[in-house]
Amino acid sequence: MSNQYKKIQNEILDSLKTIVGQKFIITLEEDKEPYSHDETLHHKFMPAVVVKPADTAEVSAIIKLANAEKIPITPRGAGTGLSGGALPVCGGILLSLERFDKILEIDEENLMVVTQPAVITGQLQKEVEDKGLFYPPDPASLDSCSIGGNIAENAGGPRAFKYGVTRHYLCGLEAVWPNGQVSRLGGKTIKNVSGYDLMHLICGSEGTLAVITEITLRLLPKPPLAVDLMIPFSSIDDAVRACTAVIKGRIIPATMEFMEQKAVMAAERFLEKRAPFREAEAHLLVQLDGDDRAALTADYEKIGRIVSDFGALDVLVAEDRPSRERIWEMRRCMADALTQMSPVREREDVVVPKAAIPELFRKLKGLSEKHGVEVISYGHIGDGNVHVNVMKQGMAPEVWERMLPSLLDELFREVMALGGTISGEHGIGYVKKKYLPLAVDAPAIMVMKDIKISLDPNHILNPGKIFDEDSK
Ligand code: LAC
Ligand code: ZN
Repeated sequence: MSNQYKKIQNEILDSLKTIVGQKFIITLEEDKEPYSHDETLHHKFMPAVVVKPADTAEVSAIIKLANAEKIPITPRGAGTGLSGGALPVCGGILLSLERFDKILEIDEENLMVVTQPAVITGQLQKEVEDKGLFYPPDPASLDSCSIGGNIAENAGGPRAFKYGVTRHYLCGLEAVWPNGQVSRLGGKTIKNVSGYDLMHLICGSEGTLAVITEITLRLLPKPPLAVDLMIPFSSIDDAVRACTAVIKGRIIPATMEFMEQKAVMAAERFLEKRAPFREAEAHLLVQLDGDDRAALTADYEKIGRIVSDFGALDVLVAEDRPSRERIWEMRRCMADALTQMSPVREREDVVVPKAAIPELFRKLKGLSEKHGVEVISYGHIGDGNVHVNVMKQGMAPEVWERMLPSLLDELFREVMALGGTISGEHGIGYVKKKYLPLAVDAPAIMVMKDIKISLDPNHILNPGKIFDEDSK
């Protein structure tokens, strides 16, 4: 595909300089390097040039130029993606939104926040929480990821179990289409059925349909009370069945996370701190929140009774902030801890309906045994979204290369058979595109390609992502 694109010549660089100013163009190799990778392991693509626009008019002018000259253009937020969505796989222009870093308004009458896309998600959460408000989506990377990237990938996180994902909070967008025209979609209303829902089409489209320049999100009142429970089990099966029983018991905590012992051990080594109940084979991490202490207490006591029926070894209750932070520190460092344990690993993001979780774990055990490879799981078990890590460790490279595709193929077919899908929150991006046909049927992929081509007939906006556009 890349050979149909034009190379960036000096006159294009001059035009880009005229749009954003010399200071906001990067062409030196070492300065472009940080923009050549994201949090996916071992993928690196150098853009020809990095451009940092200041406002929507500059974004529009850059995209118009790229479209007229047929130059690929890859939008980028904070670069924390896990599927290669922000990688400039066809070279060309890397469009960094990093200067769009202001929260524009916290509207306490409408319970909305209007923000630019480069604001760090955790920062946005803190600022609204200072006003007693709450933005629930909490991807593990919240201290470094940007809210624009969260919209582009429709990010999830632990609290999705109770509160839903990024899409459920999105009410308005300003976006620049691949022809450089600008639209304002939605606004400060919860309801909107005026025409096709293009805003939610852009959400989760991984930067392939439009560049996001402004975002309006709805907020909730911040629940004043929260308590975290860490519940160790002597077997993974007990933990998984206990989780299903809690849900069946009609309790929906804010989060219901799972960590198996090998993941906890990796976190221990990474943090150089001892974990509580390190002999347990699995842990559930449950957070309850609300505004009624008696109701909260009743819920956690009920959870305590249910989990003890499933062989829980204990229920550790953390109500003060330092104890709660200690528990979550272990969970949030998990991705880095597992990378430290095996720098080469395959990290998956499969999701199944809640009731199929025990069956998923049986399949995972079977796959690990069949392929003779360590598989370590953790993640958002309450909503069926499990991060499955296939660890290379000491395995010979040729054995690894031969084994991995068949293990992944079997895993993805299993999750589809259970009624799930191959990515819950990380996206397809660059790294998963060959598996998309396992998750989405042929007519639907055809519609996706038709949408892409009608919006971006020159394939300039984030090409090489989700599917190969020319493989119709
Ligand atoms: C997590 C990221 C990997 O949940 O999604 O840790
Ligand atoms: Zn996750």
